[in-house]
Amino acid sequence: METQGTVLIVARASPQWSTTEEVLSEEYGYRVLVVRSAEEATSALSDAHIDLVLAEHGPSGDGLTFLVNLRVSHPDVVRVLALEAKTELSQQAISPAAIYQFVRKPLDAKQIGLVVERGLESRELSRRHRMLSREFKIRGDSLGVQQRNGASLHAESQRFEKLVYVSEKLSELCDLARKAARTELPILIQGETGTGKELLARAIHYNSPRKTSPLMVQNCGGMSDELLHSELFGHKRGAFTGAISDRLGLFRAGDGGTVFLDEISEVSPSFQVSLLRFLQEGEVKPLGSDKTQTCNVRIIAASNRPLRTLVAAGKYRQDLYFRLKGFELEVPPLRDRPVDIPALAEFLLPNTPTRWGAKF
Ligand SMILES: Nc1ncnc2c1ncn2[C@@H]1O[C@H](COP(=O)(O)OP(=O)(O)O)[C@@H](O)[C@H]1O
Ligand SMILES: [Mg+2]
Repeated sequence: METQGTVLIVARASPQWSTTEEVLSEEYGYRVLVVRSAEEATSALSDAHIDLVLAEHGPSGDGLTFLVNLRVSHPDVVRVLALEAKTELSQQAISPAAIYQFVRKPLDAKQIGLVVERGLESRELSRRHRMLSREFKIRGDSLGVQQRNGASLHAESQRFEKLVYVSEKLSELCDLARKAARTELPILIQGETGTGKELLARAIHYNSPRKTSPLMVQNCGGMSDELLHSELFGHKRGAFTGAISDRLGLFRAGDGGTVFLDEISEVSPSFQVSLLRFLQEGEVKPLGSDKTQTCNVRIIAASNRPLRTLVAAGKYRQDLYFRLKGFELEVPPLRDRPVDIPALAEFLLPNTPTRWGAKF
């Protein structure tokens, strides 16, 4: 189901917020992400496409400062502040955050639903207004280009979180990725450097049932087996020189969530065995420990070298390759989907009129 938009709630746990979360997602059809701190909110904002932030302000949270910063870092995100019943803030204090509305506790979930709806509507209107004004301006000085290409410079772009595209190729890929996200299977993403593999991995996590659990990222390139083992599986104090304390390891730290293993082609043959065992058994054994522990993480791996070719050349274990590719997603390079270039340019340089229309 396409959702109406994504709302990020930044607040401590409480029954009022749980009800609000439920009403927003079930009655209004929004996707709702919930985080407890400004740090978690910042990482959610960098990975997922967020339309509106609802931040709590009061004895327990400094929502106002967060929204002031958000106005600068993500000006397009609609900002709503939730205040304690008795908190008084002056107009001067509030105005730097340029909030759309504030709501007061005790929270009224239905009222918040309406505020969210109106807030998103008003943002959509101003977005269209900006687009139209820009198009009029461009028409004035580049009529030729416009006439050859019809009314707009390029088709309206689509989004999968932070991925922007218009091409059929990426649209099929993102549809498959959305399906894959809902499963528990490992996902292997392949494609040249810079094609957006990591962006895709993050988008998948935020569209999976694991979205409220952590996403851990590990680059496997250029690391010794020992170091990689301790990063992923953890170690006991004294397991090797320099191991001055116990380390949990990403697999257990990310329990319940997703672990993104980048440059998976780069791991040594013996580490491939460890990974395979982990994928088969779901068990980790920290270095220097004789106890195994189970943990439940979803693996997304990426490689800029096609594993199939490495397997054929005898440089990669076929059984590991088969395990990793529960879903195999291939991100095509930009040169094979030039229609995405104007959409990307528009996204990266939103205030610069693009003149690509004639070429593509
Ligand atoms: N379709 C896209 N839409 C928006 N940004 C993109 C897209 N593809 C790549 N990028 C940007 O290009 C850079 C490289 O993307 P990344 O996901 O790190 O690629 P990879 O992991 O394949 O090397 C990032 O800054 C990313 O935001
Ligand atoms: Mg990368």
